[in-house]
Amino acid sequence: MEPISNSKNVKVVNIKEKLNKFTEHWNPKIVGELNDDKVQVVKLKGEFHWHHHEKEEELFWVITGKLLIHFRDRTVEVNEGEFVIIPKLVEHKPEAPEEVQIVLIEPRTTLNTGNVETENTVKEQEHI
Ligand code: NI
Repeated sequence: MEPISNSKNVKVVNIKEKLNKFTEHWNPKIVGELNDDKVQVVKLKGEFHWHHHEKEEELFWVITGKLLIHFRDRTVEVNEGEFVIIPKLVEHKPEAPEEVQIVLIEPRTTLNTGNVETENTVKEQEHI
């Protein structure tokens, strides 16, 4: 393939600006895509349900707030400026006692609710 001499497809993305565009919780918005992954922003508040992902790993990067991720054998706390990667198959339950704003990176094909479909499942994700 020929190298490309213009940068028109390069965009600088401001995470906080994207997070300010919506208020709802547990509804990830796509803000970028690379390779087979999607970069999403999402606001979390309250408890999610237990689930796992058959084939995918996911990365939770906390922008503001404090995220708890429960595993069957322990709970980890992820603070601002920290991220955590959940390996495939590992059961997890995110919890945000107060609102948390995060960047979430996972394969384009991943459903937000993992192996189960619930009222929280988002099938047609918005790009913002
Ligand atoms: Ni998950």
